[in-house]
Amino acid sequence: MEQYAIRGGSPLVGEVEIGGAKNAALPILAASLMTDETVHIENMPDVRDTNVLLEAMRGIGVLEKRIDRHSVTLNASQVHSLVVEDDNIKMIRASYYLLGALLGKYRQAQVALPGGCDIGSRAIDQHIKGFRALGAEVRIEHGLIKTRAERLVGSHIYMDCVSVGATINVMMAATLAEGQTIIENSAKEPHVVDLANFLNSMGANIKGAGTDVIRIKGVSKLHGSEYTIIPDQIEAGTFMFAAAVTKGDVTVKNVIPKHLESISAKLLEIGCEIEETDDAMRVVCSKPLRHTHVKTLPYPGFPTDMQPQITVALGLSSGTSIVTETIFENRFKYVEELIRMGADIKVEGTTAIIDGVEKYTGATLYAPDLRAGSALVIAGLAAEGITVVDNIHYIERGYEDFHLKLRALGAQIEKVSSERELQKFKLKVG
Ligand code: EPZ
Repeated sequence: MEQYAIRGGSPLVGEVEIGGAKNAALPILAASLMTDETVHIENMPDVRDTNVLLEAMRGIGVLEKRIDRHSVTLNASQVHSLVVEDDNIKMIRASYYLLGALLGKYRQAQVALPGGCDIGSRAIDQHIKGFRALGAEVRIEHGLIKTRAERLVGSHIYMDCVSVGATINVMMAATLAEGQTIIENSAKEPHVVDLANFLNSMGANIKGAGTDVIRIKGVSKLHGSEYTIIPDQIEAGTFMFAAAVTKGDVTVKNVIPKHLESISAKLLEIGCEIEETDDAMRVVCSKPLRHTHVKTLPYPGFPTDMQPQITVALGLSSGTSIVTETIFENRFKYVEELIRMGADIKVEGTTAIIDGVEKYTGATLYAPDLRAGSALVIAGLAAEGITVVDNIHYIERGYEDFHLKLRALGAQIEKVSSERELQKFKLKVG
């Protein structure tokens, strides 16, 4: 099994190029099959989740041509199956985006129930409510979500909770429904806006994405498009916190600073300096970190996908900090790993009470999910001695070349796949 071996203690210094947003790429790839014409996508991250989705799309007849690592053309004129149930697709959350896309275009779909990171109960009732409001039948049988509609007709839908996935799924199906759909209490994340922009570039009529009311006038057909995916806000935020905990000086390039506001606000509060240009952010951290309180919220609030990374930083900050998780009820599993590194953190329900310590010490850690995995790597970069992070396939779901990008910033990190390689790394770094 592959692991990351890390020798902590080197400040990260330099520039890092941020890739395309995974959570925008997934719905955009799925939505590409809503036209029979060719779609060209640029800035696609080459990560496990996008590759699994592409494999499932190929499996139902979508023609894929990889132009280079980050650009792909897709053509769905020869889709031959509306049943998506290959073994890998069950592992990723975004499998359900194929439901909205296929239902919109073909009026029916069957997709394996979604998996993804184990961070909470992750209900799909709002997706189902939205599809039913558009006139579709939805059933769950034999591990598949099955949906079918004689006609899809626009509707007024109030989401009971703010859900990225449900907003995206309903938006896709409603794009090819008859008449107008209004989604109230919709998610406002940058990737929701990116998908709306992509669909509009294919001829859809979607207004209000980025606000909490989205209005969609159904169209009968979509056409081909060329589209560039937005930069990954969470990848950028992860490197920004890596700079903070290693007392480094890192510039994240190819970002949209507006998408990083809640993250940079917290970095400023804990004592980092930030310089912003049009498409880059520089984080410099030379002073001891200070405590703060954080509550995760839907965008533009502080993202749940950055909660483990900020907790790692607060674990090394002076004073007591409180982190409250309001999106997923089971997202503090990594805390027991941090405690093994010397962190002083108590979790009570959805709150973590953190008393900052002077330093972490290296340990062998188990990544419980994607973002927690990246946070444990950051903790290892700041720790004294050697840290080994196990289960890194989670991290590879959402970070492209994570260890290589860190290494280019001066981190001592290597991917190892045997005890021998680990011993070699230990000898090398002394
Ligand atoms: C997306 O998950 C992201 N995944 C997650 O990123 C991210 O953490 C999350 O949005 C919140 O920003 C992808 O984009 C593939 P939700 P999603 O529906 O769509 C409840 C990462 O690390 N809910 O916005 O599954 C749900 O239980 C991943 O990249 C319902 O109750 O999240 C949760 O408490 C992890 N009923 C809350 O809403 C529903 O029908 C938000 O979930 C749907 C959701």
